[in-house]
This record gives sequence, structure tokens and C-alpha cells, in this order.
Amino acid sequence: MKRIYLSPPHLDGRERELLIQAYESNWIITPGPQVDAFEQEICRKVGVGHAAALASGTAALHLALVMLGIKNGDEVICSDLTFAATATAIVYCGATPVFIDTNPETWNMDPDLLGEELESCAKKGKLPKAVFAVDLYGQCADYGPISAACKKYKVPIIEDAAEALGATYNGTFAGKFGAMGVFSFNGNKIITTSGGGMLVSDNEDYIKRAKFLSTQARDPAPHYQHSHVGYNYRLSNLLAAIGRGQLEKLEEKMAKRRRINQFYKKALKDLPGVEFMPEASYGKSNCWLTVILISPEQFGADREAVRLALEAENIESRPIWKPMHMQPVFKDCRIRGGAVSEDLFERGLCLPSGTQLTDEQLNRIIKVVRSCCQTAELL
Ligand SMILES: Cc1ncc(COP(=O)(O)O)c(C=O)c1O
Repeated sequence: MKRIYLSPPHLDGRERELLIQAYESNWIITPGPQVDAFEQEICRKVGVGHAAALASGTAALHLALVMLGIKNGDEVICSDLTFAATATAIVYCGATPVFIDTNPETWNMDPDLLGEELESCAKKGKLPKAVFAVDLYGQCADYGPISAACKKYKVPIIEDAAEALGATYNGTFAGKFGAMGVFSFNGNKIITTSGGGMLVSDNEDYIKRAKFLSTQARDPAPHYQHSHVGYNYRLSNLLAAIGRGQLEKLEEKMAKRRRINQFYKKALKDLPGVEFMPEASYGKSNCWLTVILISPEQFGADREAVRLALEAENIESRPIWKPMHMQPVFKDCRIRGGAVSEDLFERGLCLPSGTQLTDEQLNRIIKVVRSCCQTAELL
């Protein structure tokens, strides 16, 4: 049986045409006209002033911290429930991540715990240099209270919107809620360039500097001269062409992923012990991945049993991100709370959510999940 992947790339627009245009222009290096156009198109989509297209979302996270002058000995607050890149970018700068547990209503950073941590840091006289807020699985964090807490202590926010292009919070697009925002275009994201990322900001200085640093920090001189340490982090013109083709279809992809989410809900909601990631009332998720929680006492099997049953049918699913405080590499870092993300990790499973999924494939997946339930009367 053909393998069903979790969230594979889906090239169904003008990607090929734009890629050939870039190829035939012989402008395959970085940057170039496709990179400029891709940046402008992302700015228009998100409603943000400036953007730098980069080789990955991780590169964008790293540069955002470099831009804020994060260095050895600093602390940076970070969502506990995220992909490791958010936290490793902090370590690239020699700084230490401090993790904040998750709000069960949104699956994003708990704003109350953030407030408590900032207050305790202020009392100790050592405030973090930044807060990395993640928009998990395509849903924005709760930026009202998060921004208020950060404003109180004058700590800048960097928004890790790697998974959330197109999502909104009270009508404003993800990527707009910090001093800088980050998107990822790796192969499993809602739009992809194969690998790639974008740093966005309304502050032109940040983006100008990000472009300078991401192209090896070359001083304006005929020879190679460097007064700063730079990086080789820019996106290639060829990959930007693919990104432009993908971006043209973002709305369609979001609608398809929402439909998939609803399809699963309709087909699984009667099962005891199955819950879906909640969609917070403050915004609209881009529905990047559909994620369920399985409570073994009610369902009669745990999420690992379901994952293995799917795998046996050649269907890829994945436990939700293992929280950062549970990662061996971050075992010595501070965590405020932690029980909520531990519980979500224990019970959470990401289901295949790619935009090429057919109803037949969805039914194949649903049949396996339903067959694992030991406590319901099944068909
Ligand atoms: C929340 C989050 N942050 C950062 C990244 C890193 O992005 P990239 O893979 O483009 O480096 C990802 C995805 O991989 C992610 O999901």
C-alpha cells in the first residue's frame, strides 16, 4: 500500500514555470530577482514592512537573536512545547533558554506563567534579553497578555511563526507580533521551498542588517573585507521561485488543511478518549497539522499503540513535539511549570495532514485509528 506521509510537499501551482524562469535567466545564485519578489510577496501577505529570505527558519531565528545582541551569559525565554530549533538558536548565541509551560486551551506559551517568570527575573535583577513565543501547529500564541507582560518589563518578543504562515490573531497575521517574526519553508510546512525561511519585521534596520550578516558581512570594498562576523544564510534565487509559486496557493492550502481537520473531527469525535487540539477563539489557525490527544483509560489504547498501528499500514504519524525541558540536551535549563506540555506529549499524535490527501486515504487513516479503540462499539 502506498505510504501516506505526515505533511509532504505539494507542488501544484506555478512553481515549475517560475523555477524555469529563474534557471533560464541564469540567476541561480543568491540573492536575485526571485528572492526580492518572494520577500515583497510575503510582506504583502502578512502586512509587514520588510523581509529577508534565508536558508532556513533556524537561520532566521538565529539572526533575530543576533540582531538583538544576545550573547554569552544572557537568558532567553522560550515556549516549552516547540521544535528544538527555537531553543537551539538561543544556544548558538551562547545564551541559556528558560522554558515556559503550555496553556491547555491554546497549546502555546502560558501567558500567566510568563508573567510570573518575568516578575521573578525582575526581582533577581536579571531579566531575559528576549522572549521567543512559538505559534504551535499553525495557531498563534495569545499575544494580548504575552505582549502586555513583555511590555511591562521591556523585554522584546521574537515570534517563531515557523508553522503559522497565514494564521491570524484578532485579525492580524502571524509574524507581526514581535520585534521580528520568523517563518520556515522546510519540506513539511504549509508552503515549502524545499528548505528555507524568512525573517520579517516592521523595523527596516533589522532586515537590512539581517541581509548584510546573512551574506558574509562584506564591507563595501572592492576586495573582501569584514568588520563583523557574518553567516552564509541567504536563500537561493531558484528556491525563492518555488516559494513564490507555493505562496500563490496559500489560501487554497489553508482551506484544504481545514477541510482535512474537519474530516477527522467528524469521523473520530464519537470515540471515547479522543480530543482535538483546540482552536482558540482569538484567531484562526492555518490548520497546518491536525493533532489529537488519546486518553488511554477511555480509549483503551495509548497514542503509541495508535502510531504503531498506523505505521503497520504504512501511514506516517508522529507524537507531538517532545517538550524542551524533557530533552536531554536541555536537562539543566530552568522550566516554569512543565506538567501541561508533558501531558500533551504523552497523549498527543499528529495525523497526516498533507494537502494531497484524498478522501479515500483519509478514510484509510480513520479506519486504523478507530480499530485501535478498545472501548467503543465500532462498526
Ligand atoms: C516551531 C519551529 N521553529 C523553527 C523551525 C525550524 O525551521 P527550519 O526547519 O526551516 O530551520 C521549525 C521547523 O522545522 C518549527 O516547527
